Amino acid sequence: MNKASNAKRRQLVVGNWKMNGSLQENAGLLASITAGWQGNTDVVICPPFPYLQQVCELLKNTPIMLGAQTVSEHDKGAFTGEISASMLTDLNCKFVIIGHNERRRMQHESDEQIVHKFIAVQKAGLIPILCVGESLQDREQGRHLETINRQLNAVFAHTGKDVFENAVLAYEPVWAVGTGKTALPEQAEEVHRFMRSQLGRLAEEVRILYGGSVKAHNAQQLFALPDIDGALLGGASLNAEEFLAICKAAD
Ligand code: PGA
Repeated sequence: MNKASNAKRRQLVVGNWKMNGSLQENAGLLASITAGWQGNTDVVICPPFPYLQQVCELLKNTPIMLGAQTVSEHDKGAFTGEISASMLTDLNCKFVIIGHNERRRMQHESDEQIVHKFIAVQKAGLIPILCVGESLQDREQGRHLETINRQLNAVFAHTGKDVFENAVLAYEPVWAVGTGKTALPEQAEEVHRFMRSQLGRLAEEVRILYGGSVKAHNAQQLFALPDIDGALLGGASLNAEEFLAICKAAD
């Protein structure tokens, strides 16, 4: 079955605002996005935690869904500064980004910790967007598939593969995130195909997003690839015109 005829692989575009925005900026950005968007692609916005409530309100009665950028692996308790998955469901979140490379690198999140976050997210009824991706060094040494395999297997070993029925994967080569350097279509497709091949009976059903310097000018080419089901956007999600152009390209 090709992706266009596969209802489970509806195109998905996720905007990860990272640590950007203000009450005023968010309101302006979302006014333009919600006014300009209608289509069949699933669209998700992941603002910083303090703005979840605001964005939740502003997305009411629109087709755009709310997501979070990370979550604690714990249910509740003495974890100063952490946010639990059930708090995110309270705020109408539907998706949570897990294992983003900025958190793997800067917050030293381990494969093990990421598995527990993944489990916590699903336990709360939310959909994890599990990010994997190789470093520039891995890529230059031809070890990119090995790294992706390790990151995927860390989760599969704990959860099995069937839980991916309610999960999204994202391939984000570390060297392409925030650098303006996108993976070549053949590089992205090779990894997406590989990831799909690791999913067992769900191989043709799981949505696999590409992330890393996706912009309006290169989105179409990436979305045309057979194993790419949408994008995880950083920079491009902060500009309404750019974001809408990418959502439309996915449609
Ligand atoms: P970028 O970020 O689009 O700015 O490269 C992607 C991401 O971090 O998800």
